[in-house]
Amino acid sequence: MRLGILGSGSGSNFQALLDAIDAGSLSADVALVLSDNPQAFILERAKRRGIPHGLIDCGGFRTKFPDEAQTETAARLLGAGVDIVCLAGFMRLVKRPLLDAFPGRILNIHPALLPAFPGVEAWKQALAAGVAETGCTVHYVDEGMDTGPVILQARVPVLAGDTPESLHARIQVEEHRIYPEAVKIVAKGLA
Ligand code: GRF
Repeated sequence: MRLGILGSGSGSNFQALLDAIDAGSLSADVALVLSDNPQAFILERAKRRGIPHGLIDCGGFRTKFPDEAQTETAARLLGAGVDIVCLAGFMRLVKRPLLDAFPGRILNIHPALLPAFPGVEAWKQALAAGVAETGCTVHYVDEGMDTGPVILQARVPVLAGDTPESLHARIQVEEHRIYPEAVKIVAKGLA
């Protein structure tokens, strides 16, 4: 399986996929890493590993993922022979041009137990809501915001005295565990 990764930030989930590949528990290769953010550390991680990587030009839009950029992204991923696209901290909504190129083959990791707390900074939403438990979800991507079918979830308790940072850090530990597992499940289904 050839993976394509889209990310906007640190790329710790990308790293978790690489670690699973290195450990021999995930049978896959990362073919291409793309980011909409030139400063994103995910690009540095790809560079250090010698993995092809590049920038997505969103034409100066801050949050929009313009159709032309999606069409170009799809062409680059297809050109790299990508089978499964993993959104790993990618901060733009994927729509038709890209979804159509990879039907049932685009996954996302979200830091909450969907359908609870979709959207940005879900760990802050969970803290503000005062829930006793939150977690993370790997799901298929559809046209909605964090609405596609769930593949795997992990629960994380909210502890007394949790800050947004401490809660997010504990959620990320679970993200790094379930993302490779979810990719395995999807890869097995496609094989
Ligand atoms: C993760 O919390 C993920 O759930 C969310 O964005 C964050 C990305 O972190 N979608 P990283 O870039 O993988 O470290």
